[in-house]
Amino acid sequence: MGADMPRRFPARFNVDDFATIDRRHLLRGLAASSLVTAGASLFARAAWANPVFSAYPFSLGVASGDPAPDGFVIWTKIAPKPLERGGGMPNRPVEVEWAVATDPRMRTVVQKGTATAFAELGHAVHVEVGGLEPGRDYYYRFTVGGEGSRIGRAKTLPRPGAPLAELRFGLAGCQRFEDGYFTAYRHIAAENFDFVFHYGDYIYEYRVLRPGERPLPVVRTMPDEPDEIFTLDEYRHRYALYKLDPDLQAAHASAPFIVSYDDHEVSNNWAGDVPDQVVPPEVFLLRRAAAFQAWYEHMPVRRALMPRGPDILAYRRFLVGDLLTLNVLDTRLYRSDQPCGDGLRADCKEALAPERTMLGDAQERWLYEGFKRAETRWHALGQQVMMMHTDRDPDPDVFLTHMDKWDGAVAARDRLFDAVEQSKLRNLVVLTGDIHNNWAGELRRKFDDARSAVGVEFVGTSISSGGDGFDTNERMNAVVAQNPHLKFFNNQRGYVRFVVTPGHWRADYRVLDKVSTRDGALSTRRSFVVESGKSTLSEG
Ligand SMILES: [Fe+2]
Repeated sequence: MGADMPRRFPARFNVDDFATIDRRHLLRGLAASSLVTAGASLFARAAWANPVFSAYPFSLGVASGDPAPDGFVIWTKIAPKPLERGGGMPNRPVEVEWAVATDPRMRTVVQKGTATAFAELGHAVHVEVGGLEPGRDYYYRFTVGGEGSRIGRAKTLPRPGAPLAELRFGLAGCQRFEDGYFTAYRHIAAENFDFVFHYGDYIYEYRVLRPGERPLPVVRTMPDEPDEIFTLDEYRHRYALYKLDPDLQAAHASAPFIVSYDDHEVSNNWAGDVPDQVVPPEVFLLRRAAAFQAWYEHMPVRRALMPRGPDILAYRRFLVGDLLTLNVLDTRLYRSDQPCGDGLRADCKEALAPERTMLGDAQERWLYEGFKRAETRWHALGQQVMMMHTDRDPDPDVFLTHMDKWDGAVAARDRLFDAVEQSKLRNLVVLTGDIHNNWAGELRRKFDDARSAVGVEFVGTSISSGGDGFDTNERMNAVVAQNPHLKFFNNQRGYVRFVVTPGHWRADYRVLDKVSTRDGALSTRRSFVVESGKSTLSEG
């Protein structure tokens, strides 16, 4: 398997507890017992046989994700009326047929089956398809009640260790609905990527914004006047609203996604059990449980990522041939609370405390063990908040760093760099989101010493958050000048395209001139190349 899950849950429970019984298992078990008649009729009464829908049941599209050498997850969610409570579905399970083929017209079906969409999971369907060949394209489709979904494309990973000449993947995230159109996703769909890494902020939990309520234009207004979301049904409504976007659906149908979450899937700048708002932790955990359930329901992830109440195990590892190890990190659930009250701070002593963490003990151990066993040419960390030290004040005498980023847990960053050096890990590439700007730079032990670099970091901008933005300005040029390891800043929307070969890692920063209309023009603003064996960026 390419997805290398941590063996134990670091928080409250063991990952082995996750084994859930699917219906086929259940019926097989029942068939061996005298309960078979009772069991089968029990299910027949509960299931919605021969469903007839008042509207198209696949309104939220299809998706694939978490690829492995032998398969991937395929996802859909049955929602004929996606913005209504329950998605327009009765509170009964429904059987959904699925098929995987080797051709885009679904003529040569190689795997098929039936999955049960449970009301408890908002009629989401997650099928873990296995038994496929490594490193090739597949196509999939769902059918229910005589209706067929669109056909999606997925791709398996090459076998770990198998020679791979080239990998092409995308970096995307931060897609606030009101801020602009998801045009970048239309272009991601056209890229035919091997996969897309999504760093989070898939939704934003905030209340509806009306035009004129803020200086930034409100490009799209959320219907139904939603308030800030707290309950499972409210999170479901928000995901449905976002997932109705045709560009987002096209991107999902084009390639597998490897997803993580950041803060806005739950609540702005939450940290572990601590919310950003004044709420007792035990109350916040109820909200976090609802948020995680809704996230799971809408993401093409494996059953191992199903939450247990407010807990979830979302960090995981993907091995892509002999070329890449991708560690997907969780920098929200196990981190220390932001020091000095969060935000931009000068001279925050608390940020230097040795016990501060971004990953928590168990995730750190898991990551560093992986460093020791590294066998691929490149080693990537797919994560959320900026790892490079960044002085955000243009004045040379003022040092302002952001407490929500790795600058708020300096000892944690030092431990990570120590582990990289001790395991002699080469070709470290950190992939980041969160701050709605493009950045590129070198990860240095001492940020003013070019010889101390241990890797590079590519920070991808947002799909829409922040609106049209601007290329750069005088102030940001001055900020970059204060940080000699930073090579690039841009404040436009888009995504990053990576082309990875044994010899080099190329990053193309793809930006849109605007997201306030649907016809924004795409261009490659800047390209960088990292040569294998070096931790420096050169112009691509
Ligand atoms: Fe964001």
